Amino acid sequence: MVNIQDLWLSYPGAAHPSVRGVSLDIAAGEFFTLLGPSGCGKTSTLRSVAGLETPSAGVITIAEQRVFDHSGAVHVPIHARDIAMVFQSYAVWPHMTVGQNVAFPLEVKKLARPEIGRRVAEVLEMVGLGDMAQRSATQLSGGQQQRVAIARALVRRAAVMLLDEPLSNLDAKLREQMRIELRDLLKRVGMTAIYVTHDQEEALMLSDRIALMNAGQLVEIGTPRGLYLSPTTVFGATFLGAAEILSVSRCQGLQVDTELGPLTLARGQEGLSSVAIRPEAIVVRQGSEILPEGPNRIAGQLHSVVFSGRQQQLVVQLASGRKLNAQVDATRPFDAGAPVQVELPAARLMGLKKEPA
Ligand SMILES: Nc1ncnc2c1ncn2[C@@H]1O[C@H](COP(=O)(O)OP(=O)(O)OP(=O)(O)O)[C@@H](O)[C@H]1O
Ligand SMILES: [Mg+2]
Repeated sequence: MVNIQDLWLSYPGAAHPSVRGVSLDIAAGEFFTLLGPSGCGKTSTLRSVAGLETPSAGVITIAEQRVFDHSGAVHVPIHARDIAMVFQSYAVWPHMTVGQNVAFPLEVKKLARPEIGRRVAEVLEMVGLGDMAQRSATQLSGGQQQRVAIARALVRRAAVMLLDEPLSNLDAKLREQMRIELRDLLKRVGMTAIYVTHDQEEALMLSDRIALMNAGQLVEIGTPRGLYLSPTTVFGATFLGAAEILSVSRCQGLQVDTELGPLTLARGQEGLSSVAIRPEAIVVRQGSEILPEGPNRIAGQLHSVVFSGRQQQLVVQLASGRKLNAQVDATRPFDAGAPVQVELPAARLMGLKKEPA
């Protein structure tokens, strides 16, 4: 549905390009997220798809329409692209009612009155504002205003919806509720969405696939599960959640020599520069639970225990002096200073490759 080939974007006067060779292929009906730290080029990429920026190179195709081609000098203007946009700011027009706000894009297209009325009522119902069509747009909460913005984007029935941090102005509780609502809604209408966020949890919860960006480049693409459970770069491992990174000096088949000694992997991988493990994947045993020495088991001492309600954060100090963060069930009693054994389960060790410069 959306295809981007080798997209480059340099702003006038900027020292470095903001988008550097991004290529993406987004399927019809897919909820696709661009995720990455502030300034990595997410908005620049999205605005290029919208036609709000002129890329320096590349090809962009939306719903079979070639909307940008640097070499062929194609640059379709925003209003002629089959897209709808929702931004962080609600951009709801204050002098209009909710109904008028949503009807506006259809009036611009000069659709017949009854048709406009039908479609506006339908999308207002979808976003849960069915009884608020007559309400002035200024008399709405932040969440309601954002629903109006979403309804206005939906009503056009564009092929692709572009969303740039649409929930970031909402308070935490509303944001969580709207996340689920938004995903359900877009899935129900079968809309293709490109969603921009710097919030990992939001990306993991919403997306069919995530493209992880850093410094203008695409670092990794995958499903939420795939990216979280088996990232292939240090950046991917650490941006999506906490991870202990262990450098690798030698790898052969399933055996790797790491800074903690030899470890066994579940899957053999070539050319690893490090392996990583998430804190919640580390098994910590104490007292009578401690097993005989074995692969991926290391003795240590409990350096600290922090209880946070949902879980406990343990810091284990190994004989080498290296500390490991582990996250364990809140109900198990642990004493700081006690001897413990950690196990790094082979299936949870993530092999990481050297990142491109
Ligand atoms: N209009 C502009 N002129 C010059 N440089 C710009 C312009 N807009 C963005 N940039 C630069 O391009 C880079 C990418 O910016 P972009 O807005 O795409 O990042 P982002 O990933 O959306 O970040 P955030 O999460 O903070 O919104 C940044 O270094 C930024 O300073
Ligand atoms: Mg941005």
